[in-house]
Amino acid sequence: MRKITKLNAGWTFHNNFSSELVAQASPGETVRLPHNAVDLEMNYFDERCYQKEFGYQKILPWSEEFADREISLVFDGAMANSMVWLNGQEVAHHKDGYTPFEARLTGLLKHGDNLITVKIDGSENPEIPPFGGQIDYLTYAGIYRDVWLKLTDAVAIRHIKIETAHELSDAKSVSIVGVLGNPQGLLMAGQVQADLCDMGGAVLHSKAQELTGEHFRIDFDALSGLALWELEHPQLYRVVVRIQTTQGRDEISSRFGFRTAQFTPDGFRLNGKALKIRGLNRHQSYPYVGYAMGKRAQEKDADILKYELKCNLARTSHYPQSPYFLDRCDEIGLLVFEEIPGWQHIGGQAWQDESVENVRRMIERDWNHPSIVLWGVRINESQDSHDFYTRTNALAHALDSTRQTGGVRFLQNSELLEDVYTINDFANGAPTEFFEGQPVAPLRAPRHITGLDRDVPYFVTECNGHMYPTKRIDAEHRQSEHVTRHLQILDAAYANPNISGVLGWCMNDYNTHKDFGAGDRICHHGVMDILREPKFAAYAYTSQCEPDEQIVLEPVTYWARGEKDRCEVLPLIVLTNCDYVELKFGDFMAKRAEPDRTAYPHLPHAPVIIDSRHVNINDLGAWGMLWQDGVITGFIDGKPVAQVRLSGNPVPTTLEVKADDLELIANDKDATRIIIRALDQAGRLLPFLDDVVNIKLTGQARVLGPDVLLFRGGIAACWIETTGETGPIDVQVTTRRLGEKHLKLAAR
Ligand code: GAL
Repeated sequence: MRKITKLNAGWTFHNNFSSELVAQASPGETVRLPHNAVDLEMNYFDERCYQKEFGYQKILPWSEEFADREISLVFDGAMANSMVWLNGQEVAHHKDGYTPFEARLTGLLKHGDNLITVKIDGSENPEIPPFGGQIDYLTYAGIYRDVWLKLTDAVAIRHIKIETAHELSDAKSVSIVGVLGNPQGLLMAGQVQADLCDMGGAVLHSKAQELTGEHFRIDFDALSGLALWELEHPQLYRVVVRIQTTQGRDEISSRFGFRTAQFTPDGFRLNGKALKIRGLNRHQSYPYVGYAMGKRAQEKDADILKYELKCNLARTSHYPQSPYFLDRCDEIGLLVFEEIPGWQHIGGQAWQDESVENVRRMIERDWNHPSIVLWGVRINESQDSHDFYTRTNALAHALDSTRQTGGVRFLQNSELLEDVYTINDFANGAPTEFFEGQPVAPLRAPRHITGLDRDVPYFVTECNGHMYPTKRIDAEHRQSEHVTRHLQILDAAYANPNISGVLGWCMNDYNTHKDFGAGDRICHHGVMDILREPKFAAYAYTSQCEPDEQIVLEPVTYWARGEKDRCEVLPLIVLTNCDYVELKFGDFMAKRAEPDRTAYPHLPHAPVIIDSRHVNINDLGAWGMLWQDGVITGFIDGKPVAQVRLSGNPVPTTLEVKADDLELIANDKDATRIIIRALDQAGRLLPFLDDVVNIKLTGQARVLGPDVLLFRGGIAACWIETTGETGPIDVQVTTRRLGEKHLKLAAR
């Protein structure tokens, strides 16, 4: 039987790799995984600091349970080029930082201590994708995902692929295609059994058959009473596969769901129903610790995309991301477009061969996720490359006949080898361009891009981003324009039935190379900042949800007489899904304003734009006159349902300290975010407050990054991480102007 244990604790980290480490244990820093080789500053750092070789060592003492077993180490992800030795002998070499790999130890373990040494080369080796050119993101070195010790019998299950058919009928089919691992090439006979279970573990259907070799296939047909995987109700099922052979037993399981997903010339369809895709691109990086964030933080990003930003799809730009993120997308009903590592540059033959392998590794790792609806099989924004992309497409189709391929380009008239023309359209903000006599912005016409005389499945995979970088601390007028650009593109995507949907660039700000960003090593392209705190543009997305899910009322304003030009607070964009809003200024009569259907005819929920059509500017006073409180009320069906108060006299009143989670897992390297907000008497952020925030942790956690923070745009935040021990965690937050607060968490 299989036994899998996490091997994350008790590694020794060596900041410099030397060949002596291959055969000899050497003292160093004790670390737990996931681990980031070099923690960076929040900004203004030198990204070359991690582009070198590091060493990790671990002693694996002999255990009687190793006898006669197949034994391997499974690395979920290590950046970027990894070599593994056991007692001085090379057991694995993996040239990709994003996909898992195994190091087979069978027959090499001795009684007593065994030395595992891992060399992680974090350099940007031009022989390995994505390297060779400039890249607008960082590839933080380290063993940044989990490592597992896997014991099996001599013959075990290598992987299973679960494919469904007739999903929309009440006679659904499931086929389980499996491959056995039999590295010793032993003669073997036996049986395989598959159980189809609900998530409570109850067996709904079961089938057994003889094994006829190392490949098997089990079909279930005419399954009735099973639910679809849908965005609002993402029903999952589990397949458990067992083998009993003359060479031992094994069991593995995988979740899956019943759904259809089709990009067509008339838009995207999920389970046969039209769905306009509204989403964002996501990088898997975090401040200070780069990629080395565990399960909880990965899941939280999926939750933010689904529940805070109301997206229905996330693109894992530009590489396969954490399995925890994808698992969570399955659980909550968030679609995913996953792609191979790369950024604009295509290398030579060996590089391309490795990239084709990346297609295989990505698909074989992730084919059972119902959330994934599209494979990205081009290097993001690369030039056309007929032979290379013919290979990547053919392999994707051979491995998975149920999903379409896309390949993200920025090119017009690009050769369409994929099923979907996936395009980064940065027309918005570009110099005016015309197609068939019409200006192209905010989105180009699909045929203008494809150069084809017919409609093809078409999906806008990036927009905005570097065309209008905006910091969360930027002036109100810039934030308004940022909001407007996202709204305009969303509206244009909703307008055109040929466009399957649009993904904004991007979910949150991210650290990057010196060649990009604001010089501070950050691309301020997010609708959230690097701490996942929303900019106003976030609400351009949030406000598109239906009010029965959440009532949204977010005025894009700092509400001050003198923040905007000419000291006017108008025009004032209110991002809302209410029927209309009213603005009250001091004691003046409330003024009513409706969603702006002229500017945004197609959005599910157009914003309200309060301007001189609704309010006489003199009613709000001018420079030199009294500035007063504002009250914005949202109405649905004639009833007030939401209200935002805006203080005309904001002063620091409240220190708000919140944690994403109050209970952490001691055993894991488990991290949660602490968010500290400086609020005025109306509960709004004080965007320009300068103050220092001191964090003091007592108990079983430590701060990731510095423990002295600054309010930026009214917010300070950090992640804290468990130490490995159980016990209480006290978070003490001290500020100069807003006093002190404690938050109690626990590591269990
Ligand atoms: C795109 C690229 C992204 C990011 C974005 C910024 O060209 O695919 O990775 O750099 O620009 O807007």
